[in-house]
Amino acid sequence: MCGIIGYVGERSISDVLLKGLKRLEYRGYDSSGVAMFHGGMIEVHKAAGKIVGIETLLADRRQSGVEGGIGHTRWATHGAPNTKNAHPHRVQDIVLVHNGIIENYREIQKLVQSKGFTPKSETDSELFAFLVLFEMTDSKVDFIEAIRRSFLKISGNSSVVVMSERQPGLIVGIRNGSPLVASWNSEHGAMLASDAQPILDYTNQVHYLENYDMIVCRKSGIEFFDVHTAKPIKRPATKLDWSADRLDKNGYPHYMLKEIHEQARTILDTLNANFATSGGHIPFDFAPHPGLDQLSKTDRLSIVACGTSWHASLLGKFWFEKLAGLSVEAELASEFRYRSPVLKKNQVVMGVSQSGETADTLAVLQDVNKRGIPTMCISNVKGSTISREAKSAFYTYAGPEIGVASTKAFTGQILMMLLLAGKLGREAAMADSSGKAMIEIEKMYRELFELPHHLANGLLEESATSRATKAAALATQNSKGFFFVGRGYSFPIALEGALKLKEIAYVHAEGYAAGELKHGPIAMLEPDFAVVVLAPHDLWYEKTVSNLQEAKARGAKIIAVGHADDKLLPSMCDHFIPLPINTKKEDGKPVLSETLIPFLLAPIMQLFSYQIAVHKGTDVDQPRNLAKSVTVE
Ligand code: AGP
Repeated sequence: MCGIIGYVGERSISDVLLKGLKRLEYRGYDSSGVAMFHGGMIEVHKAAGKIVGIETLLADRRQSGVEGGIGHTRWATHGAPNTKNAHPHRVQDIVLVHNGIIENYREIQKLVQSKGFTPKSETDSELFAFLVLFEMTDSKVDFIEAIRRSFLKISGNSSVVVMSERQPGLIVGIRNGSPLVASWNSEHGAMLASDAQPILDYTNQVHYLENYDMIVCRKSGIEFFDVHTAKPIKRPATKLDWSADRLDKNGYPHYMLKEIHEQARTILDTLNANFATSGGHIPFDFAPHPGLDQLSKTDRLSIVACGTSWHASLLGKFWFEKLAGLSVEAELASEFRYRSPVLKKNQVVMGVSQSGETADTLAVLQDVNKRGIPTMCISNVKGSTISREAKSAFYTYAGPEIGVASTKAFTGQILMMLLLAGKLGREAAMADSSGKAMIEIEKMYRELFELPHHLANGLLEESATSRATKAAALATQNSKGFFFVGRGYSFPIALEGALKLKEIAYVHAEGYAAGELKHGPIAMLEPDFAVVVLAPHDLWYEKTVSNLQEAKARGAKIIAVGHADDKLLPSMCDHFIPLPINTKKEDGKPVLSETLIPFLLAPIMQLFSYQIAVHKGTDVDQPRNLAKSVTVE
């Protein structure tokens, strides 16, 4: 939930730490701080609020030198988000940053008090520095050994990075749970961070720490040790395919808007990465992958996820059931893990997580692995904890998603699930010689390659879709509340549309299956309430239109999203948003299979919330109280 950085090398320490913290700010942004050597002493600078606070503090205190420094951006768990509780924490000559929760903090607090010390902050993190101090003073071990021994005394998932005035030029990190990634080369020195993004500015060769790995960083190199045995271990470098230029806004006012626009590219990159090339023709064969063999053998799939990834999983369920005839449940990871789910040997549990770090999703996969049931995951981050915990990993190719509200990663996730469902369905159709099913799936694959074009057209600023989305958002932004409703494939998009509006515009919104409105929520409707009705030409169209009428009859403002040439919807609603597709003149059928409409609806919902948030002046990329990567339960 927090972002950690450490650096030892020839570059300006303050510049490296600040630039790195900005890359990590999406992980938490209620306070930040850095600690750097200066004249043989460690200076600590902290500020409540975003990185800009610490940047201002450091404006005339830029440091260079090879003694090293550490930094932290915080998402508060223990203790209010203020300067006192901001990291780094100092206890005498020991200075540290921490990510995670020390579960036995009460016990350590008592020990600290019994020795006559009073911690300066309310955090569990500061207590770790006392443990290190006690090891050095009482057990008389050296700094590195003191950190190792102290780590074995804490419980819960934590990662720490520690330095000491006794040891200039040395930074020690330990990982358990919260990720740590490292790099070293002779040119830029040694770096340690919560994820690879700050490192990508210098190199794409990174070393992922495993749980209970300790890393010792010096300008001259990095060494890894097993925390339990203290023995040296090897952690070979992984080459990343993300580049630093994908981490910038590239002229967009917000990352979120840039990422909404990048969805056409996400689709193409994910398609290209998964299909084996086949001489310029639309390919239907997947590149070989061990997870595919596993999926082909299974007759039940449990998908677990949180937030937006759960909404994506609901769509996945629809497609796996429809295209592959597979029995699927899409579950909230935080609920699944504390139930007593009945798991069979021939089933697969799949975690879906953009970050690959979400605590609840990870915990489910860990439990399931212990039970010997096959696990897999869909993640956007190669080398993430979830992708390494799962027995096989599928990747989405959305590139780094910096906006805290997920947009392009959602599109990558639903595409990956659709591709897998299509692959299973096509295999089954081939086995049964079911020509019709095969033709349908191959048609869908062909259309998938056209989808980026439709999506990019719809997102053009001057397109009818974009203009109508903006107009509807501005006209209804002051509504008392919003319902987002849809049926079938549009239902998960309705849930996602409501989540986006809450997340970035702080406007109350709920998503419902359209058929559920009359079972209670309709009582809320009155003239200053808005209902967004997702009504593309699909199997559910007539029923959805009936639900629209029910809402309209109660005086609610209706925003309807439908095919561009829909004749009925515009006359029934206050604001009509046309999809960037219509129906074919020849046969009256939609130009795109209904299966693919969610790929167009989701970006419209994102844009709708984005417009309202911008008008309200909220912090679109870093909404209050949120963090991108939720590594606590
Ligand atoms: C999405 O906009 C949210 N930030 C949030 O719901 C997110 O999808 C959820 O925390 C799960 O994250 P993950 O995909 O990284 O596991």
